[in-house]
Amino acid sequence: MKLHSRVCDILDIEKPIVLAGMGGASCPALAAAVSNAGGLGVLGAASCGPKQLRQWIRETKELTDKPFGVDTLLPASVRRANYEEMDGPTPADLLPDRQSFAKDFMEREGLELGEEPPAVNRDKDEPAMFTAEFFDAQMEVIIQEGVPVYASGLGNPGPWMDGLRANGTKVMAVVGAVRHAIQVKSSGLDIIVAQGHDGGGHNSPVGTMALIPQVVDAVGDTPVLGAGGITDGRGVAAAMMLGAEGVWVGSAFLASEEANIFDFQKQAIVDSTEEGTSVSRTVTGKPARIIRSKWTEHWVTEDVEPLPMPYQGIVSGPVMAAANREGRGDINPGFAGQGIGMIKSVRPAKDIFDELVYGAEQALSRSTNLLR
Ligand SMILES: Cc1cc2nc3c(=O)[nH]c(=O)nc-3n(C[C@H](O)[C@H](O)[C@H](O)COP(=O)(O)O)c2cc1C
Repeated sequence: MKLHSRVCDILDIEKPIVLAGMGGASCPALAAAVSNAGGLGVLGAASCGPKQLRQWIRETKELTDKPFGVDTLLPASVRRANYEEMDGPTPADLLPDRQSFAKDFMEREGLELGEEPPAVNRDKDEPAMFTAEFFDAQMEVIIQEGVPVYASGLGNPGPWMDGLRANGTKVMAVVGAVRHAIQVKSSGLDIIVAQGHDGGGHNSPVGTMALIPQVVDAVGDTPVLGAGGITDGRGVAAAMMLGAEGVWVGSAFLASEEANIFDFQKQAIVDSTEEGTSVSRTVTGKPARIIRSKWTEHWVTEDVEPLPMPYQGIVSGPVMAAANREGRGDINPGFAGQGIGMIKSVRPAKDIFDELVYGAEQALSRSTNLLR
């Protein structure tokens, strides 16, 4: 008996296991490795400017002739935010204070400010990262390049559906609540990803085990992928028992040879336990599950409130860049889910993928023994 579901037919893949779009980490080599293994590799393109995004898509097409996807963020809160109309100090007013807080932290930790300006746009010709213009420019490239699958990590791809559909692109959206699932379903997309609190990166306040069946029940015919803390085949099987028709797996693939993160970050995952993460706004400004670090803890102990997206990225950017230059896993170990306690080594992505499939098939076939 082999693992198979409707999701395989919709996405034209062999196994319903999808590499989660993880910003920067899910690079062309990793996405292609997962697609070539029989799943769907999804590029984590959230922070790619339009030029880099086009290059990544073309690189992936060179590395695989199988379907693959692109994940970006479409955060409604950034599109809607009009901080000028807020009462009290705006995030822009508070920015110098938080930047000086970050500078003091860097001095304390012996980190040097690098050459790059403390701004989040890498290319002067392109819109600043995580602004509405940036998201629009990304979507233009995704539609022009006619990618097989598009996934929105935050927000509703509704406004772009016509352009995506014209290319035959399959569309998915990641949600963390039933009301978001109902919203994105009304856009007529193909698959909904229900990502729970256990997951790495931006996540939901609702736990994975409770979220999956509630989203499944709410969206009727639309297939659901389960996500958040799914790190081995038992997790894949459990998500499918809860009604999901496949999984969206992030952290398990972070400790792969192909993942585009630093070796010190892969080591932080291998060294971590199930207690090693916390949900923090200190990197992007939105709650994200991250391996606990001196940076996340400093904001807690000093009782300072991070700024909203995109301002917190301007504060954290230079600190993360300096930590990366110095190989400081104690300051920037990266985003990861609660399942990382199960990860014991760094391996090729194909080995990780094959083990997820084998473990799920074993667990699902064993489950019939539980009935007498
Ligand atoms: C390092 C990292 C970066 C992430 N970046 C993104 C992102 O850019 N876009 C997105 O939709 N989700 C992002 N996520 C969330 C993943 O897509 C996925 O939902 C999550 O990894 C699932 O939980 P797991 O890590 O426990 O498997 C990220 C997760 C991690 C661990």
